Amino acid sequence: MDTKNILKGYQDIFNEKAEKLFFSPGRINLIGEHTDYNGGNVFPCAISLGTYAAFGNRNDRKIKMFSENLPDKGIIDFSLDDLDYKKEDDWANYPKGMIYFITQAGHKLDHGFNLYIHGNLPDGAGLSSSASIELLMGTVLNDAYSLNIDQLDLVKMGQKDENDFIGVNSGIMDQFAVGMGKENQAILLDTNTMEYHYAPVELGNNVIVIMNTNKHRALADSKYNERRSQCEAALALLQTKLNIKSLGELSIDEFDRNSYLINDDILIRRARHAVFENQRTLKAIKYLKENNLIEFGKLVNASHISLHYDYEVTGIELDTLVEAAWEQDGVLGARMVGAGFGGCAIAIVDKDKIDDFQINVGKIYKEKIGYEADFYIAEISNGPSEISISKVEK
Ligand code: GLA
Repeated sequence: MDTKNILKGYQDIFNEKAEKLFFSPGRINLIGEHTDYNGGNVFPCAISLGTYAAFGNRNDRKIKMFSENLPDKGIIDFSLDDLDYKKEDDWANYPKGMIYFITQAGHKLDHGFNLYIHGNLPDGAGLSSSASIELLMGTVLNDAYSLNIDQLDLVKMGQKDENDFIGVNSGIMDQFAVGMGKENQAILLDTNTMEYHYAPVELGNNVIVIMNTNKHRALADSKYNERRSQCEAALALLQTKLNIKSLGELSIDEFDRNSYLINDDILIRRARHAVFENQRTLKAIKYLKENNLIEFGKLVNASHISLHYDYEVTGIELDTLVEAAWEQDGVLGARMVGAGFGGCAIAIVDKDKIDDFQINVGKIYKEKIGYEADFYIAEISNGPSEISISKVEK
């Protein structure tokens, strides 16, 4: 990414030089999908694609934001004294929500600012562009106003922004992965206890390829909320006899012995995914630590199968990419990532086979779906940070 262009963009729009520059990553998830709102484990990592912001202080109480990705929206303008959600503020509601929750928490912002945004995460691809911009805004404010907010509190405010400001009932995984990311490390997070551990992603001669269906996650939010309530309904039925707070507390055996309490085709399948995926995630991490990449890859595949048959969030585009990936030489495993219904999948692929992999999978996809898929090599990166302007300008 040419960060010089972002500084130039800021200058063109606001007629002054930017004072600070920041970056916030996107995320992928290696395994543990649709478990974060079920008290289960997730295993995501931050990636080097993400969102940049150039920042400058203002003397008044105005906030002005411009996104290079959505130039038609122009400069979005609001005041520190009116931080309510407004439909016409469009994409800027994501960062606005962070400002809202930060000031609600008692932090004082005594003047406004200008912000110029550029993101290189593919649009609507399920790589968490929203969490990326939320944590970006949190990091900018934390740094520029010396607020000293703990990183985990920023992560939680990001989720609050998503849930209570934007209105998507998502779990904590995306904001956590973005906010707590570490280079070459994935994060095992138990969403029940919020305990977490970093685990090096050592894949030998393999790399992680991100495969973008280029299908927008249309209706994803409503179907996401539907899955969530189905899991809650299954949990309520189990709770008639079991003393549990979430599906994540159940072993496979406990689920098996008690699924008669659910006794409904759809609800059993949804809950089975949540329980199995949670256990699968713990096994997968064990295999990765033991450097047993073959078994790790098989669990990655199993995750996709479960998301397809039991959770029903894959769809023809994701299935086509993943199934085509499974057929290729040098592939350890492949699965969809994020909410599903379009967006991206990942494949763990032998470095020496990457070219053939992309050509073959790309061809199968184009023939079946009618348009192209995109491929990127994932670099596992750090969480949000300031970028030194003087280094960029050198
Ligand atoms: C979306 C949500 C996350 C998580 C995933 C599915 O990305 O924002 O909280 O639920 O879907 O694992």
